[in-house]
Amino acid sequence: MNTMASSMINNVFGRGASGYFATFGLIAASYLTLKIALNVIKVLKSFVFAGSTNFKKLGSWAVVTGSTDGIGKAYAKELAKKGVNIVLISRSEAKLQEVSNEIEKESNVQTRIIVADFSKGLEMYDSIRNQLAGLEIGTLVNNVGMSYSFPNYLLDIPDREEFFMRMININVTSVTMMTSIVMPGMVERRRGAVINLSSAAGLSPSPLLTVYSACKAYVTFFSQCIQTEYGPKGINCQCVMPFFVATKMSKIRKPSVYAPSPSTYVKATLNSVGVSSVTHGYWAHRLQGTITSLLPEVLVKTVTLRIFKNARKSYLRKLASKKE
Ligand SMILES: NC(=O)c1ccc[n+]([C@@H]2O[C@H](COP(=O)([O-])OP(=O)(O)OC[C@H]3O[C@@H](n4cnc5c(N)ncnc54)[C@H](OP(=O)(O)O)[C@@H]3O)[C@@H](O)[C@H]2O)c1
Repeated sequence: MNTMASSMINNVFGRGASGYFATFGLIAASYLTLKIALNVIKVLKSFVFAGSTNFKKLGSWAVVTGSTDGIGKAYAKELAKKGVNIVLISRSEAKLQEVSNEIEKESNVQTRIIVADFSKGLEMYDSIRNQLAGLEIGTLVNNVGMSYSFPNYLLDIPDREEFFMRMININVTSVTMMTSIVMPGMVERRRGAVINLSSAAGLSPSPLLTVYSACKAYVTFFSQCIQTEYGPKGINCQCVMPFFVATKMSKIRKPSVYAPSPSTYVKATLNSVGVSSVTHGYWAHRLQGTITSLLPEVLVKTVTLRIFKNARKSYLRKLASKKE
């Protein structure tokens, strides 16, 4: 620290204060350097070992929830291209059949479909368990998810209690129950991959998407605990935390660098299974994640709140003008 700056600090904060400031500055700079260095090592590791998982060797079948659209459909197609048979699970039988035909035409694999509505709670899982019995499932993609139709205050959500239950059943119960159904076979064979779709909203709190953000934080912690418990038993559990991807859920139609198409996103992310247990996946999302993690949490929350408040206002304005 130069002498003018240190005497100014001593004048304002008292004698000797400049020494404390210099030490604090050194610690902060070392912390930041270490964090950046760790991130660089992670990125290098992910390039060196990219694509090292052989999904076919993990098991001849993969199960993908929410697989008729968006990210789930892209996972189903990419895994099929790697020679894995696919079980597709979603609500609409017609859409399931369509995706099943597409996959069988594109890749030389078998598919099965299961019609299930994950908003329904526990009663539907016995049927899924029965339909999956006997299959050698090496990969499970817990993809199905539901978000808000627009950012909103918790108590302003229409029919909020029914909405909360649907949100928790789809985002939380499905991940827990599907893992409980599929993972025992993997543990028995001592190999398998469980890929859980969390979100950037499951990394730092996203006000005005409160229940979604809290559900995704569950998925993030659940995945990390599973990886720690079952990693030594041959299971790779990966938590995927996308920022925006151009899908129906995000309402982004035109893919861009920051909101890639589901297929671009999944191609990049699937390569990192077995390499990164928690990832934003695709490179531009990893960059956003690194920047976010270097910022103070209070700043991230404040900026997020401002962005979502503006989104809420413009959604409500559009809704009002449609009604007029
Ligand atoms: N898109 C993003 O920007 C983004 C960002 C962060 C995280 N994510 C996460 O990524 C995952 C996939 O998102 P996405 O954007 O690909 O979603 P999406 O385009 O809305 O697709 C959702 C899929 O889930 C199925 N689905 C919806 N509700 C269901 C239910 N109740 N029961 C069974 N299936 C149901 C849909 O098919 P049917 O309608 O035919 O049932 C569809 O196949 C979610 O977990 C989401 O939270 C997405």
